[in-house]
Amino acid sequence: MKSLIDVLDFSVEELDSLLTTACDIIENPAKYSECCKHKKLATLFFEPSTRTRLSFEAAMLELGGSVIGFSDGSNSSASKGESVADTAKVISCYADIIAMRHPKEGAPLVAAMNATIPVINAGDGGHAHPTQTLADLLTIYREKGRLTDLTVGFCGDLKYGRTVHSLIAALSRYTGIKVVLIAPEELGLPKYVKQEFMQNMSFVETTSLEEALSDLDILYMTRVQKERFDCLETYERLKDSYILDTAKMQLAKSDMCVLHPLPRVNEIAVAIDNDPRACYFKQVANGKYMRMALILKLLSEDAPISEIPGVKQEGLVCTNPRCITSIEQEPEHRFRLEDAKKGICRCVYCEAEYKAL
Ligand code: CP
Repeated sequence: MKSLIDVLDFSVEELDSLLTTACDIIENPAKYSECCKHKKLATLFFEPSTRTRLSFEAAMLELGGSVIGFSDGSNSSASKGESVADTAKVISCYADIIAMRHPKEGAPLVAAMNATIPVINAGDGGHAHPTQTLADLLTIYREKGRLTDLTVGFCGDLKYGRTVHSLIAALSRYTGIKVVLIAPEELGLPKYVKQEFMQNMSFVETTSLEEALSDLDILYMTRVQKERFDCLETYERLKDSYILDTAKMQLAKSDMCVLHPLPRVNEIAVAIDNDPRACYFKQVANGKYMRMALILKLLSEDAPISEIPGVKQEGLVCTNPRCITSIEQEPEHRFRLEDAKKGICRCVYCEAEYKAL
């Protein structure tokens, strides 16, 4: 039984196979219309969502399966104090596969460690959003015909932008990718993403979208996420750092693709929606096809068992308030050794850095 918690849970070959399946679903939808008959998807959304939840539900329905779940944790027994671990054990009695979104980093991993059915991370706090990456990869592949030899600009909130973290992780395994990081200093990429994935990639950092635009094959715009800020003043100061408008689009290549995981607020002018380079609504459609391919893969009998990541470090606990371990007693504190020489390890749930014991 395999889960998808991090995009790196899949090899490049597995990602390629998902892309192939998604393209086949697009060409031959009828072939797949009964593949999940009598199967149930549980969508457990403890955070708001339009695209991810509804595309998962549409995906399962188009595969002939059915859907149960909730779209607000306050309507579930989590509001009475039920843990993520117990929720996963309970839902395993009712459904065949879980898609979970949660504000705490690592919550879907805790669910996967306790469920007896596959668990899909549908976004955990500011950490990761691997199924958005599947949508992004299919969009890049369909628009550009390749996932190699591309200059990709990431613009906006690279600190809390979980879609950015997951897409960078995925792209780090393809050749010829150059990354341009466009963000205000306060919203730069987390250190762990840089250390883990940017070592083997060519990248530059800038605060100027205008200066970066002419080099880009892909521009990945992101929203500055109000819900991730502890200080509202900081959010107000940074929220309109980058606004892509028609004047800026004139600086870009004629075949540049503009992607955005959505929802957008101000960062892409509505006037750009009619520009053929605007691909963010195609990205939405591609998300459903990739989630169909993913459900098929995880429900297939040959999916191998996921390994529980990391090890216990006797006496070491994660103290990150954004980590699932900050609100739940049950998860064992586990760490991945990152640098044996320097003695650095990271929490497997939220990536917070610690000195190994
Ligand atoms: N891209 C994305 O995750 O959108 P939702 O928050 O609407 O699911």
